[in-house]
Amino acid sequence: MLLYLNLDGEGPPTSEQREAVAASLTTLDRAYEWSHEGLLYSIAYSPAYFERFEASLPATVDLPAPTSLSDFETPTFDTQDAVVHLASDRADAVLEAEEALTGQQERVNGIDVEARLTDAFTVDSRRTGFVGAGLPAQNQNAAGIPDSKPVPEESPLFMGFIAGFVGNQATEEYVTLDEGPFAGGTTKAIANIRQRLDDWYGEQDYDERVMEMFSPVHAEEGLVEGVGANLGDNSGIDEMLDDILDQAREHARVGHAQKAARANRDDDGNVRLLRRHFESTDDIGSDQKVASLHFPSLQRGISAFEEVRRAMNGTDVTAATPAVRQRVNNGILEYIFTRRRGNFLVPPRRHRVLPSPRPT
Ligand code: HEM
Repeated sequence: MLLYLNLDGEGPPTSEQREAVAASLTTLDRAYEWSHEGLLYSIAYSPAYFERFEASLPATVDLPAPTSLSDFETPTFDTQDAVVHLASDRADAVLEAEEALTGQQERVNGIDVEARLTDAFTVDSRRTGFVGAGLPAQNQNAAGIPDSKPVPEESPLFMGFIAGFVGNQATEEYVTLDEGPFAGGTTKAIANIRQRLDDWYGEQDYDERVMEMFSPVHAEEGLVEGVGANLGDNSGIDEMLDDILDQAREHARVGHAQKAARANRDDDGNVRLLRRHFESTDDIGSDQKVASLHFPSLQRGISAFEEVRRAMNGTDVTAATPAVRQRVNNGILEYIFTRRRGNFLVPPRRHRVLPSPRPT
């Protein structure tokens, strides 16, 4: 769950607000084990929050305001002050923690609630989702997914494949800031993406979906079976990057992972982004159920995210072959629509409570 929050009042936070936020987070720490069986959470702050202060963020923090990352997206920018991300294998733990943070519970998992986040903040937007095999299939009765119920039971994503292979993700250590007052923290870009999968399932056969998700060679060589569990801990995409334009010319398609991976390695070959996306049927601001995706990504600086996302536009591929167009045969761009974007700094724990831009 993502809770987008606005700090009450203008200017820097007051000491009462800081006390309330500190006490409210400490309550969660006492109530739950820090694990996927208890509760995992973080709080992160936006560029707009830091503008409340006279001082600016140090150069060690790469946190621009959100911006559009392709010619064809017109997202609403999330410029709330903060976002709290709550996660657990137990939905009841997430919901109970939310109630404690927002003043709907006096006790949480047996612990008295001494202060609420809503003593300092107002919830602007509440976004929910789920992750894990089986859940997309169970929730596929949503706009954007054809009535034929095509999402495989074993798929963790509506699009029918596994994502987040260990070998294609940055490590937590890699995305951690290593200098400056926020050392130990990281940056988080969060998009909300609407999915329209009628043509994905209706017009593409399985091999074509593999081409568009991974690479044409993945399909040609039959490297992916079912949802892709056979790939093990690496999608093997690094082998498919050098001749990406030739593959696109030959097969009239380019892969999503293939395009993104080109910008997702540093000079030493390390993966730059740690993607933490989860599925949703939220239609933010309405009660309708639509297939969507919350896409938090962690990286040392937001520019890294922007570079990888821009690489997904595949502009050089569209120039190289007429078969690949801005949104046609171009990875998964035909099926995904960015509706929101926001950028945040996740401070290290010692500065998690309403930090100033230059904490000591
Ligand atoms: C509905 C939306 C999306 C779906 C279903 C999706 C799914 C996938 C899948 C199945 C893979 C290959 C397996 C893996 O390495 O994890 C992948 C890779 C990747 N995707 Fe996405 N993705 C989506 C949107 C995005 C967006 C918006 C970005 C923005 C930057 C992105 C960035 C990446 C990156 C960086 C990789 C890994 C490439 C690599 O370095 O190996 N994806 N995605």
